[in-house]
Amino acid sequence: MDLTDRPRRLRRDGIRPLVSETRLDARDLVAPIFVDATTDERVPIESMPGQERVPVEQAVERVEDVLATGVEAVMVFGIPESKDERGTRAWAEDGVVQRAVRDITAETDAYVITDVCLCEYTSHGHCGVLEPDAAERPTLTVRNDETLDLLAETAVSHAEAGADMVAPSSMTDGMVGAIREGLDRAGYSSVPILSYAAKYESAFYGPFRDAADGAPAFGDRRHYQMDPANGREALREVRLDVEQGADVLMVKPALAYLDVVSAVRREFDRPVAAYNVSGEYAMLHAAAENGWLDLEEAAQESLLSMKRAGADLIVTYFAEDVAEHL
Ligand code: PBG
Repeated sequence: MDLTDRPRRLRRDGIRPLVSETRLDARDLVAPIFVDATTDERVPIESMPGQERVPVEQAVERVEDVLATGVEAVMVFGIPESKDERGTRAWAEDGVVQRAVRDITAETDAYVITDVCLCEYTSHGHCGVLEPDAAERPTLTVRNDETLDLLAETAVSHAEAGADMVAPSSMTDGMVGAIREGLDRAGYSSVPILSYAAKYESAFYGPFRDAADGAPAFGDRRHYQMDPANGREALREVRLDVEQGADVLMVKPALAYLDVVSAVRREFDRPVAAYNVSGEYAMLHAAAENGWLDLEEAAQESLLSMKRAGADLIVTYFAEDVAEHL
């Protein structure tokens, strides 16, 4: 037996950090925040322990808490005061995200990314304009092309409010191109687009849909979000977004899709983001509450696996907790 090559030599304290291939850094993390126009006090989100919906008046305070941990970027989600068929509050100048972003950018140095989607704003909870007979045909609910203008208008309204970057999440074909064109025409050619390029129709979004009140009233999102069975298709989705001008490419969810993160990293030359979604957060919390695993270590290990797979940045509800322990 030849034991000249012994990997254990490099695992001892002292050498270990010198040879580690990846590292977590607070500056690679993005903290999602929920701003709620229907409340005037903070409301804990039951399915996501430690997360809260905050009123617009407390958005700045919420972001200051994030910045205090060393995390420099936030992703803003809004819960509007009212919903309607088309989701008109998504692009309103005095909408919940627009008001919060104006305050945050006026009073903090945070890098502000906004989620661009209609599902939190439509009464039916779908991510776009409904087909006329959608309720009878729950497997084909959203009109793709009619939705594009609304997404572009929403993105422009976020940029007008001061958003540093916009993040379209609706998986509408052509959304990146429509938003790029809208932003450029409105004078925001320097605002980048972080595209949810490969977003799967996933059971791991469950807790978020409670948090943002964005569950579809009927049907599901199978005809616009990706089939979890498909990996090659993710590269096709990402390629289309790159062609349309996406600046950062996101894969979502993260943990169950690390193969996709790694493939996107290899195939494309743009920064890659991974979204460590609500269900990934909730399941670690649930296990930790039962004493079945160590929350801090499991959270760090999860995020490290995303870096190892090739993610440059990670959107995660663990951002603040992990940053504080680095
Ligand atoms: C909105 C949106 C969703 C998430 C982010 N943006 C929900 C969905 O598509 O149903 C999920 C985030 C999470 O689960 O943490 N389109």
